[in-house]
Amino acid sequence: MSATRDAQRSGAGPSTWTAAADLVVVGSGVAGLSAATAASRRGLRVVVVTKDAPDEGSTRWAQGGIAVVLGDVAGDSVDAHVADTLAAGGGLVDEAATRNILGGGPSAVAELRTRGAVFDDAHDGGRLARTREGGHGTTRVIHAGGDATGAEVERALLAALPGEVTVLAGHTAVAVRQASSVTGLDVVDDDGRVGVISAPAVLLATGGVGGLYETTTNPAVATADGWALALRAGAALADVEFVQFHPTALAVPGLRGRAPLVTEALRGEGAHLVDLSGRPVMDGVDPRGDLAPRDVVAGAITAVLAGTGAPHVLLDATGVEDVRRHFPTVTASCDAIGVDPARDPIPVRPAAHYACGGVITDTRGRTGVTGLWAAGEVARTGLHGANRLASNSLLEGLVVGRATGIDVARALAGPRPVIRPGEPATPIAGAADRATLQRAMSRGAAVGRDAAGLAATSDAIESVTVDRALTDRAAVEDAALTLAAGALLAAAGTRTESRGCHVRRDHPRRDDRWQAASSAVTLVDGRLTLSSTDRVLGGAA
Ligand code: SIN
Repeated sequence: MSATRDAQRSGAGPSTWTAAADLVVVGSGVAGLSAATAASRRGLRVVVVTKDAPDEGSTRWAQGGIAVVLGDVAGDSVDAHVADTLAAGGGLVDEAATRNILGGGPSAVAELRTRGAVFDDAHDGGRLARTREGGHGTTRVIHAGGDATGAEVERALLAALPGEVTVLAGHTAVAVRQASSVTGLDVVDDDGRVGVISAPAVLLATGGVGGLYETTTNPAVATADGWALALRAGAALADVEFVQFHPTALAVPGLRGRAPLVTEALRGEGAHLVDLSGRPVMDGVDPRGDLAPRDVVAGAITAVLAGTGAPHVLLDATGVEDVRRHFPTVTASCDAIGVDPARDPIPVRPAAHYACGGVITDTRGRTGVTGLWAAGEVARTGLHGANRLASNSLLEGLVVGRATGIDVARALAGPRPVIRPGEPATPIAGAADRATLQRAMSRGAAVGRDAAGLAATSDAIESVTVDRALTDRAAVEDAALTLAAGALLAAAGTRTESRGCHVRRDHPRRDDRWQAASSAVTLVDGRLTLSSTDRVLGGAA
């Protein structure tokens, strides 16, 4: 039976419909589409729910590439990739999960290529071209269209999506339905029509949380929906204080929302950061210079901006060979503001980029809630720790997404309880005014935090929070951002040290007592609660 919505309309209400599926995937980026494909190929009826157009998620905007060891770069190995990932992640990376994910890279990339994804060729006996990014000890990042890797991955996955998969664009996930286990998902479309999709499995693949901040490299859909859905369903989050700021988003005066990315691969090809007086930003900061891990570079730029009062620093890419041809996406963004990257230094500043933490899962996407899976940026497998290594995320989405689709098919292979579609619920949740929340988070919970700033941020958000019925996309998003901000602020306030992308001005050093310690956040009786992940992970499915 196809899970086509119109074919399943019921009389549940004038503007309410029902549908049935085996798996509902929330989100249509690399992880969601990889899972949907794997599950559909194993005979499951899959519905993909996505808020915008299917290709409007973060995957499409990824530039640099996919970090993967394919065995054709002298001296490189999965062990070396694991070592770089551990070093970047500041002591919080789960080595076993990392080995599993990075080790699954070659077959995931090979499968993607058989589905039609085309990566840039090295013109060297059939090898793929490679570039290097911060924190990598060698050139191991494959790319497509120069700096349009995410767009090519998204295109290929959508083109190869099995025809049996139903995609509901313009639909927002409101709540995970639960009895003793997951029973489906309530959604609302852009015209306010409410739907109930009955299913024994729901996968959250909703991407990131960039909408918590005034400027972000993420698209508008990245409003922490998955964190909120998971918390309300009883799942735990971890490492949510570690929001990675990309060092080099294009600095466009007055811009709010999505700031164009200026890929780190430019620095891999020789571009370097200077302040407005021409002084190298990374001199004396880190021996790896412009290719230090992202947290280090973003921190150095933030220090320069704070010290000089300048609105941005400059990325000088004028020495990069044929920069306009090799980096067409960056070039187009620069051209739009009258900057020619072949001749002019590019104005850049850090912007919120990636959530290193998220819903606690294993490498098959399993959360601690029966019937609920999570994969991609929304999830926390332990690969990223306190600071994600560049270009590890598309790989994680491919590997864990596929593993999740396979795992759901296995989990549903036995007898299943009958699910009766009920009436949709209309949750009510606290939702802050979004502009105020973003302003407060950008001031108090970005790169460089302290106890007073975090407390002031909480107060500012609380003062503009009111209860709202989650009956449309804006309300769902505002409530998700409010809950996510609360989780992040609680975790950031508790971690009284600096580590990875969590930088505390009032606790500027690493504290060994926090080594290997992650805080789990859960929602208990409507209140955010922090505990040790040891306890929560012990209970994971
Ligand atoms: C970039 O191209 O700089 C971004 C890649 C990533 O975030 O992994």
